[in-house]
Amino acid sequence: MDNLNNRTALVTGASSGIGEAIARKLAAAGAHLVLVARSESALSRLAVELKEAYGSRCTVITADLSTTGGPVEVQREIELKNIEIDILVNNAGFGTYGPFETLAAETERREIAVNISALVGLTHAFIPGMLERRSGAVLNIASTAAFQPAPYMAVYAATKSFVLSFSEALWAEFQGRGVHVAALCPGPVDTGFIDKLGDASIRQTSVFSKTVKPEQVAEKALEALQSPNPTHIVGFKNWLLANSVRLAPRRVVAKAGAGLLRPASVKPLP
Ligand SMILES: NC(=O)c1ccc[n+]([C@@H]2O[C@H](COP(=O)([O-])OP(=O)(O)OC[C@H]3O[C@@H](n4cnc5c(N)ncnc54)[C@H](OP(=O)(O)O)[C@@H]3O)[C@@H](O)[C@H]2O)c1
Repeated sequence: MDNLNNRTALVTGASSGIGEAIARKLAAAGAHLVLVARSESALSRLAVELKEAYGSRCTVITADLSTTGGPVEVQREIELKNIEIDILVNNAGFGTYGPFETLAAETERREIAVNISALVGLTHAFIPGMLERRSGAVLNIASTAAFQPAPYMAVYAATKSFVLSFSEALWAEFQGRGVHVAALCPGPVDTGFIDKLGDASIRQTSVFSKTVKPEQVAEKALEALQSPNPTHIVGFKNWLLANSVRLAPRRVVAKAGAGLLRPASVKPLP
């Protein structure tokens, strides 16, 4: 999508972190926004700020995207308000970290619901209009975790592999139809995401010891919306790592991941 000015973008998970930073960048580029998350006060504060700073029209929709009704309610509110969505940024998501048997099944069900089901549901909701108008873009926030299994974050990494595969498939399906689909794959980012994993020892792992700022990821998000390519990895080192694992045997990659992400509470194998 060449020009973001006067387009309307729906950003899920806009109440903090990467989604908030993407919303700011889109507003600075002249876009109007629909901001979605559960935290109404954070969304409303952002809406006021973006209206004052850039004159953006901002609509706030609070929804719990871990419920079946959440994405449906978002679609219904947008139809009621007669808003046409030009850009969909599926960013809302969260992770789980720890030995699989210690993680709550219900939390991981909600993780799959937000990271996968809501993302697919919202894409279904807004793609038909974009295809009809032969204009639109969908940006899905995956992760570098999408490129290999992540022991101790098994469900999270699997959801992000889904997001990457889904995005690349739709990108190919919609060639020549005016609709661009892309996946953005950041490595560790300094947001509430890491604290919400619930085990501070993850910051001591080599994977999470270095982070980038959400603003850097948002910069790349705007590039991804305007580039013809489907897959965008944030940072050269991450790009190298994501591509180098393709040549290694899968069992070697999985075992190496277990070493890199092992929580402090888990003893290393002798
Ligand atoms: N930070 C990283 O290291 C990193 C790396 C790669 C990819 N990512 C991905 O980047 C995306 C954004 O994460 P972040 O780092 O910006 O973390 P964050 O600051 O925790 O933001 C997560 C956002 O998702 C929303 N969200 C979570 N559960 C929701 C639910 N049930 N219903 C509606 N909204 C929900 C949150 O809003 P409410 O709590 O207000 O609902 C919040 O706005 C996620 O998809 C994450 O997987 C993060």
